[in-house]
Amino acid sequence: MIHARGVAILDFGSQYTQLIARRTREAGVYCEIFPGDAPLERILSIEPSAMILSGGPSSVYEEGSPRPAPGVLESELPILGVCYGMQLIALHDGGSVEGGDAREYGPARVSPVPGSALMLGIGEGHTAWMSHGDRVTAMPPGYSAAASTSSLPVAAMENPSRRRYCVQFHPEVAHTEFGPQVLSNFLFSIGGLVPDWSMERFRGEAVERIRKDVGPGGRVILGLSGGVDSSVVAALLHEAVPDRFTPIFVDTGLLRKGERESVEDTFRGHFGMDLVSVDASREFLSALSGEADPERKRKIIGRVFIEVFEKAAQGVGGITHLAQGTLYPDVIESVSFRGPSATIKSHHNVGGLPERMNLRLVEPLRELFKDEVRRLGRELGLPAHILGRHPFPGPGLAVRIPGPVEARDLELLREVDAVFTGYLVEKGLYDSIWQAFAVLLPVRTVGVMGDQRTYERVAALRAVTSTDGMTADWYRMDPAHMAAVSSEIVNRVSGVSRVVYDISSKPPATIEWE
Ligand code: XMP
Repeated sequence: MIHARGVAILDFGSQYTQLIARRTREAGVYCEIFPGDAPLERILSIEPSAMILSGGPSSVYEEGSPRPAPGVLESELPILGVCYGMQLIALHDGGSVEGGDAREYGPARVSPVPGSALMLGIGEGHTAWMSHGDRVTAMPPGYSAAASTSSLPVAAMENPSRRRYCVQFHPEVAHTEFGPQVLSNFLFSIGGLVPDWSMERFRGEAVERIRKDVGPGGRVILGLSGGVDSSVVAALLHEAVPDRFTPIFVDTGLLRKGERESVEDTFRGHFGMDLVSVDASREFLSALSGEADPERKRKIIGRVFIEVFEKAAQGVGGITHLAQGTLYPDVIESVSFRGPSATIKSHHNVGGLPERMNLRLVEPLRELFKDEVRRLGRELGLPAHILGRHPFPGPGLAVRIPGPVEARDLELLREVDAVFTGYLVEKGLYDSIWQAFAVLLPVRTVGVMGDQRTYERVAALRAVTSTDGMTADWYRMDPAHMAAVSSEIVNRVSGVSRVVYDISSKPPATIEWE
């Protein structure tokens, strides 16, 4: 999709690059992230109106430290250099950069220089977030300081005639109080961009693009899991090509309570989609029979899923395209965030199917961040309970029953999980938790109920806070809620007589138990 007047962000490895992109989009400007050394023609292919060079862990004097491709630093476009990006510009334009005596990390009070275009409207003494070793010690000719701190005479600099603006601090980080103001000064008053990136506009463009890609004779299928991403893709395809779109939902028998009904009600009932819903719970259970090894369980589930999905797809007939809920963080070519998210996603994708059935891919969310997908979902009228639902792993409850998976254990776990998450929703806690679920332990313990001794199972409750699932902390649940939910589980689910709460963070533990 071509967005004239967007921003190209060059990534030099900063952990904050993705934040720069999010802040830019929040300001209403479309942007894309490129590897720091991407060729100029590639960067220009999105017709950017400005560029931002990110920070990075290297020193500009280090051998092999990343550099922009030829032509980038000579460009006539306005450029904002952040931290390492500032040092690259300083060096290129004839200034000097030196290592400081110590790394400066953390908040610093910034004094803007009156008259600076970049610092326009920012008063004295606000706090900015610093994270650097090197610093600009002599500005290149034609530059003037735009801000300083008590230890850093050139905390920001600018050269309006070359359209170069540089900051040593990180405007993209929430700790930089005036960060959004710096960014909007750069984008709007300096760069002349207009804030026209909105989900409403994206929706219209995405629908047009799907129609064009699929063509008049095409037919699209989608593996619909009921999670946020595939649900939003489904709603978008239904709007674009309603008569030529078939979502396929596979009930693996490893889903949460009421999940199949909810997916059928929403997509077949409410949206009127031509939903194919396959009950494959027997296939999955029998393939998993007796298997205790976590990785082998995952592999079996992945293989059976592909078999079942492929059979269902063949039943639809005449298919030309497979839609997938790939998101922007899955496709950014960058050192800083090709992390576990890429591996996690591969579980959802229907490996090999496009080649075997000769299908082309439709990935309408490739340009979006997760929070934008949720906004798009709201725009498309998806219910809040789907958009706000906690993440759920592809292998489902199988990874929440350590050891072999039995049908009756799945029933038991579904009930416990429903009581737990139902309680969190009822008490208004669900939305402040990133992911919450129950695990059924393969352990029996002694209990006493009335006059009788019992010998029943243990359920572990897990609730975590996180931003992306890569690290997580256990949710500090009020003991009164713990007590209430524990007795509700034991009273309502026969077969479970003891409840424990998981207080492990990730790392060293993972979020799931397997
Ligand atoms: P872990 O357990 O690795 O989980 O800390 C991080 C996030 O990923 C989800 N998860 C998976 N998702 N297939 C998936 O689709 C998987 O095999 C899988 N394993 C974990 C987990 O629920 C959490 O949100």
